[in-house]
Amino acid sequence: MDKSSNPIGLFDSGVGGTSIWKEIHSLLPDEDTIYLADSRNAPYGQKTKEEIIELSFKNTEFLLEQNCKIIVVACNTATTNAIKELRSKYSVPFIGIEPAIKPAAMRTKTQTIGILATKGTLNSELFHKAVLTYSNINIIEQVGFGLVSLIEDGKLESAEMTNLLGEYLTPMIKANIDYLVLGCSHYPYLVPQIKKILPDSIKIIDSGEAVAKQTQKVLEEYKLLNKSGKKGRQVFYTNSNPAVLQNILDNKYEAEKMDF
Ligand code: DGL
Repeated sequence: MDKSSNPIGLFDSGVGGTSIWKEIHSLLPDEDTIYLADSRNAPYGQKTKEEIIELSFKNTEFLLEQNCKIIVVACNTATTNAIKELRSKYSVPFIGIEPAIKPAAMRTKTQTIGILATKGTLNSELFHKAVLTYSNINIIEQVGFGLVSLIEDGKLESAEMTNLLGEYLTPMIKANIDYLVLGCSHYPYLVPQIKKILPDSIKIIDSGEAVAKQTQKVLEEYKLLNKSGKKGRQVFYTNSNPAVLQNILDNKYEAEKMDF
């Protein structure tokens, strides 16, 4: 059966994975997409591996019920804790997102890079393995405690946010990093605030573009690319406040409240 016109499914613990959706939609505008914001259960970053796996199964099953042809795990925490289990349980192809340490490690001149991510990502086995590959580089890891919750509450530009970012980034600046890796799909929304704190010489890297290219490549491999030439339909579901999701999408799309 030809599934190429079926939607791409994406899920995240909340609204942050829309930073990945934006890259995918801009590269593949003909694709239908269904985005799932599990905001009621955010943040995932403080949960146990078992809890993250259970939530990832639940989200995947909802997306499979909507006939998604591929699932993009638009969440570093869910990817680093559950991608292996997802791939062994379901036959649909999965795209995961991991902190972009590699490009930062290849380009650093100071041999020192910083990574801001959730506790769940930084503690994961997958992340530890990635870090071991770059033992010649000094990698400063920082958990972004509280950042996801503030974004989920729509408090991107609050004083609380500025204070937390200052607390997390100042030691990295002092340690002479020249690259900051954003290891959580919520954090690209903080770039304007982060840029106010970091000197211009420090570059910020996220994984959005790479994930979009990988999605395109896998769709091609599986002969699942939508070649209809028509603009795709974009659907957004949340199990919490739709206004927060709509705001992060600049109110260009409607978000529907759904129980999942
Ligand atoms: N967007 C998720 C990530 O990329 C946030 C995790 C959380 O909910 O703590 O890790």
